[in-house]
Amino acid sequence: MNTPKRYLITAALPYANGLKHIGHLAGAYLPADIYVRYLKAQKRDVVFVCGSDEHGTAIPIQATKEGTTAQAIIDKYHPIIEQNFKDLGIAFDIYHRTSDPLHHETASDFFKNLEAKGDLETKTTEQYFDEAANTFLADRYIKGTCPSCGHNEAYGDQCEKCGKTLSPEELINPVSTLSGKAPIKKETTHWYLPLNRHEEFLRDWILKDHAHDWRAAVVGQCKSWIEGGLQPRAVTRDLDWGIKVPVKGGEGKVLYVWFDAPIGYISATKQWALNNNKDWAPYWNDKETKLVHFIGKDNIVFHCIIFPVMLKLNGHILPENVPANEFMNLEGDKMSTSKGWSIEMDDYINKWIKKENGGPALADSLRFYLTAIAPESKDSEFTWKGFQESVNGELVSIFANFVNRTWVLMHKLCNSKVPKIHTEFLDSEDLALAQSVKDTTDKVTALLEQYKFREAQFEVINLARIGNQYMQKKEPWILAKNIDTDPTAQAKIDNCMHGCLQLCANLAILVNPFLPFTAQKMCHLMKVVDRMLDWENAGKFDLLKVGYTLRAPELLFRKIEDEEIEAELAQLQANLKAKKITMENTIPTEAANTETTGTLKPEIVFDDFGKIDLRVGTIVEAKKVEKADKLLELLVDLGFEQRTILSGIAMHFKPEDIVGKQVTIVANLAPRKMRGIESKGMILMAEDAAGKLYFVSPSEAIAAGSSIA
Ligand code: MF3
Ligand code: ZN
Repeated sequence: MNTPKRYLITAALPYANGLKHIGHLAGAYLPADIYVRYLKAQKRDVVFVCGSDEHGTAIPIQATKEGTTAQAIIDKYHPIIEQNFKDLGIAFDIYHRTSDPLHHETASDFFKNLEAKGDLETKTTEQYFDEAANTFLADRYIKGTCPSCGHNEAYGDQCEKCGKTLSPEELINPVSTLSGKAPIKKETTHWYLPLNRHEEFLRDWILKDHAHDWRAAVVGQCKSWIEGGLQPRAVTRDLDWGIKVPVKGGEGKVLYVWFDAPIGYISATKQWALNNNKDWAPYWNDKETKLVHFIGKDNIVFHCIIFPVMLKLNGHILPENVPANEFMNLEGDKMSTSKGWSIEMDDYINKWIKKENGGPALADSLRFYLTAIAPESKDSEFTWKGFQESVNGELVSIFANFVNRTWVLMHKLCNSKVPKIHTEFLDSEDLALAQSVKDTTDKVTALLEQYKFREAQFEVINLARIGNQYMQKKEPWILAKNIDTDPTAQAKIDNCMHGCLQLCANLAILVNPFLPFTAQKMCHLMKVVDRMLDWENAGKFDLLKVGYTLRAPELLFRKIEDEEIEAELAQLQANLKAKKITMENTIPTEAANTETTGTLKPEIVFDDFGKIDLRVGTIVEAKKVEKADKLLELLVDLGFEQRTILSGIAMHFKPEDIVGKQVTIVANLAPRKMRGIESKGMILMAEDAAGKLYFVSPSEAIAAGSSIA
């Protein structure tokens, strides 16, 4: 493996439209930070850039919600998010902003250059226009039914339910979210990036060159994009919030946010270079730079297809890897700030870190759990119980416990000093311990180089586990009891404690990328300077000098108590309810416009309908599903059998009120698991303009299982 000359590491620029949650943290920022800390410990030349993504429609939409201006929104959230990252130990070299003039200039020049070289095309098309609001509608301002999963609140750019990237044209029954009316089509001219011209390049670069070193899911997504046929992508918008289109004919238009935002990585690098009296250009133009983008999976197409094409056209280097993560769910549901189902970084910081028995150790506790369940190859799930078990079971009882026992015994049995080695008493276990440190160092290094952070962290904890086993075997406290009768006892104690202390020094080095605050604290305990944490020291067994006095023991982590977990779970439910109430107060008019208009779904043929097996079912039991606000678990009698069906009607009906009701069931719907319960079928509901739900029932009681056609 050739060591790159320098590294440029990016983490997706978060929209400065609100607080960011721990799913964002786990998806991009934490793995990026671990990687960068590792590289810096390796003394590599590395710049770690991030910053606020301040354009696009997310910002004005939030401004409308908060009754303020777009500028006020970004000025409010940018510093909070920046500080949140700091408090969690995410150490960017620069946290820039896309509203900065330097960025406007950089993105503008980028666009002008591509335009001048003929790398863009213009096209006049019909786009959705809201006559009532007298404006073209950005993708985010259009809602409709997702053609892929049928979700009826999909946005014009993406369905948040199934994750599919959409264009507004694909939405069924599009509606403007500004006026609630169906939009009309109107002509407008835009600039396009003709991705179709670059298909061969993308095929070679991703599907050939990187087929094996990129994550399978990343290559998979790229593959389906490329095979689906690449189309020209519009890179300008009819909007007034953003970077003005800097060429003739661009009046009243701005650059598409996904055109300008990734260029923000370059602007951020420029600003960093200015601040540090360095040259930014080699980081983006020299082939010997290794560029790595850390992102969540919803950003793959932008970082693997669109931005690389832009980079290539503008003469820059391409990313060496894009280790995108899958999503992290929360207690059984998708994390979503807008739905009130999330843990904001800001909340965690205030509740756990900035509290009396909190402090930076609690930042590391979160970092630890998020990495232990990192969604590197599949979606994962944050649960508060899991957090508690992970912290108490591994950080406290294995890692902190080993360090603490070592310190306590060293003070008690070795006069508070690093004891010397008595070679004549070294045995195979002592040698094996030193070997484990070397082996673990090799493993962790290899795993980090491959972006396997979860496994790498596991190996570090495992080394502490090995330390505990070693100490347990040596039992220095037993040797101490025989000190007067056994002339070899002190020598054996010394050897054991020497080994444990050197192991602790190595643990500090290896844990540093993951738990930087803990590594600092360990340096404090060992009375060594940061330089000891250099990666080249890992594997050495003479890091602490014989005779050196060490500080008194201090606990590295505290236990997470049951009450704290219960309080968090209750808080989650409360947030959900609070959000629900605000949403219910704002949504009805929209629902009235979408649900009860005469606009129908596309026509189907009789055979389509014939596939659906509708039956009358009788509800025989109903109960709430634990921890799921919306769900009722129903036992439904279909005559020939009784089955469990989950229905999202808990906010509308009390379980005891619906037992005995006859309802319409889609009886041959594929089963679906929610909250660990399998739901076999679906209950049809009618919804009026106000959002009230009604069962669809036979006019008189009939036999359960009767078919409906
Ligand atoms: N703001 C985008 C998001 O949160 C990410 C932008 S990444 C960048 O999904 F590359 F465009 F900067
Ligand atoms: Zn969908």
